[in-house]
Amino acid sequence: MYVPERVVTNAELAKMVDTTDEWIRSRSGIERRRVAADDEMTSDLGGKAATEAMQAAGVTPGDIDFLVVGTTTPDLVFPNVGCLIQDQLGIPVCPAFSVEAACSGFIYALSVADRFVATGQAGCALVIGAETLSRITNWNDRSTCVLFGDGAGAVVLQPSEEAGIISTHLRADGAYKSILNTAGGVSKRPDMPLDESLYIQMRGNETFKVAVRCLENIVDETLAANDMDTSEIDWLIPHQANHRIIQATAKRLDIPMEKVVLIVQDYGNTSAASVPMALDVAVQDGRVKRGDVLLLEAFGGGLTWGSALIRY
Ligand code: COA
Repeated sequence: MYVPERVVTNAELAKMVDTTDEWIRSRSGIERRRVAADDEMTSDLGGKAATEAMQAAGVTPGDIDFLVVGTTTPDLVFPNVGCLIQDQLGIPVCPAFSVEAACSGFIYALSVADRFVATGQAGCALVIGAETLSRITNWNDRSTCVLFGDGAGAVVLQPSEEAGIISTHLRADGAYKSILNTAGGVSKRPDMPLDESLYIQMRGNETFKVAVRCLENIVDETLAANDMDTSEIDWLIPHQANHRIIQATAKRLDIPMEKVVLIVQDYGNTSAASVPMALDVAVQDGRVKRGDVLLLEAFGGGLTWGSALIRY
């Protein structure tokens, strides 16, 4: 993973909008978040996380033959962030693209890369989740600005005789498009300044309820598809949107919080970056060990949601 240097605490936010450290902690579990420097783009964060991932996997840019990035905050309309990172790292000609599925972006990207590796069409895939959500955050809106942060995480996928990614499951329901979205973008230009039209707008309470329901269902589906039950999961690595969503989901699934990786307190909701960041934290601190069964899940605007069951 890679996160920008600048830490923004709840106390700092309390000087900017009418909020308190206590409110933010109790409603979301968030204590601090990282915010990218003005000259730091999504591709910079993603490129640095990718470099770490390649070092950990013992591969070089020359080995990569497939590159996919989950992001909602691309540097540019085009070239896509995948191409920018390909150029930045000197990765040879290969498919390079980004997947736009909000906070589920990494799970979507992982699922696509898994299919290419499993069918032999890719031999070494780089999968990245990277975001600069601070660029689409309305820093005057207390109901959203306290929740989001910037960061990136990445993994390398290679073929193996042993199960690595056991299965992935993707879902979306556009009927919920209005509870979590931006008012404008490239093709849709509402009558407001462009910056403002890109701000995240959210009906928090509704989002919370739908998130818990969708995540519970996708975890159930994932386990049923593999004839497993929750007691066989060593680690739940959820999208880090909110401590209370994570807790409610774990409770419904009867997974003790000791088996849940939590980083939301340090980084807030980093959208597509949050799951690979949480994975990295738990691998680096020794919690996740070879052979452990991991259940990754995410939920985001669209609505989109998904899961990946992995034997690490
Ligand atoms: N500080 C202080 N008060 C705040 C506040 C803040 N940062 N943000 C909102 N409030 C106020 C509201 O204005 C409201 O005041 P009112 O009752 O006078 O109208 C009150 O707090 C309660 O608001 P509500 O939205 O009902 O709070 P909540 O308990 O639902 O918590 C969230 C708000 C956003 C933390 C919660 O709904 C949530 O986590 N939703 C899911 C969000 C999410 O994870 N989205 C991303 C999914 S990928």
